Amino acid sequence: MAVRKLAPKEIQPKSFAFTPENEAFADQQIAKYPPGREASAIIAVLGKAQDQAGGWLPRKAIETVAAKLNMAPIRVMEVATFYTMFNLEPVGKYFIQFCGTTPCMLRGAGDIKKVLESRFGEQNHVSADGLFSWLEVECLGACCNAPMVQINDDYYEDLTTENFEKLLDDLAADRPVKPGPQSGRRSSEPFEAVSTLQDPSLFDGSMIGAWRKRFEEQAKPAETGEVAAEMASIPKEVKASKPTAGRAIESDAADTPAKRAKEGETPINPVDRKEASDPSTATKIEPRQEATDKPAPQSSKSYVATPSKPGEGKPVPTSPTTPEAGTPPAQAETRRDGSESKPDVVIDKDNTPS
Ligand code: FES
Repeated sequence: MAVRKLAPKEIQPKSFAFTPENEAFADQQIAKYPPGREASAIIAVLGKAQDQAGGWLPRKAIETVAAKLNMAPIRVMEVATFYTMFNLEPVGKYFIQFCGTTPCMLRGAGDIKKVLESRFGEQNHVSADGLFSWLEVECLGACCNAPMVQINDDYYEDLTTENFEKLLDDLAADRPVKPGPQSGRRSSEPFEAVSTLQDPSLFDGSMIGAWRKRFEEQAKPAETGEVAAEMASIPKEVKASKPTAGRAIESDAADTPAKRAKEGETPINPVDRKEASDPSTATKIEPRQEATDKPAPQSSKSYVATPSKPGEGKPVPTSPTTPEAGTPPAQAETRRDGSESKPDVVIDKDNTPS
């Protein structure tokens, strides 16, 4: 990528003004946007200025565009220097943008580049006759027809050293040239015999509505096979659920005074007798879950981290290491008040410990 800067002063024109047609074009572009948003037309107006100036943007053209769009010239300069489709230096009558990105390189763009270098020298230089200049650019989106170049506004694809040399000769001699693939193919169809999408039903219309037929067939009740067996296994009558299913059952608790009274027993205790006559003491019991043969699913994983006890898994000492509660320290088998670890110190008469 070349350095994006304005052309040297010596070659900058002294002035620039839009032609009446281009002025009208700029007004038309600006009118597409709300008042105060003239800047939105910048790409189109800069492009037209470049065309008028001979394929590049002189400083004066950039300033004229800025005035037209009510923009600071530096803002227009930022756009002009950012986009590579704007040339900041003069270009040849035929400005060649050579694609040097991977697909084109894999298909022989290196040879095309050699042709350019041998005929016109370094990129960004106009040939002595003023007809040609070239620039290496990134992918131009015609990889299916790699390698390729863009000359002014047209693409020339499927290039080889031979057909590219001929193309340049024709341009130099002002002979007509044909844009697009130079290999004889019409667009990006396969070079050799077509080997895909050959089923006639893809093109003869017989597939039209096929999806509807398929849906209708799938919707028909199955009569045979696995689907039929599955359908047959579905019970024809729906079983009623148990009336108590899911509800709390009010029943007597086992062996309560109320139950005993109901069974004809007379409670001996007067308190029980009173309780037995009170039906509100009947206990409500939640329905039990019906026992099933299957055990509840168990997971081998535990999702609760249980800290292990420090002594877990270690043998328990048979003799206690701490005295029993209530044992006076003097009688304790082992003293645990810290004094047992202190050395016995004797103070001699000079007050020197020994
Ligand atoms: S890589 Fe050259 S056109 Fe895409």
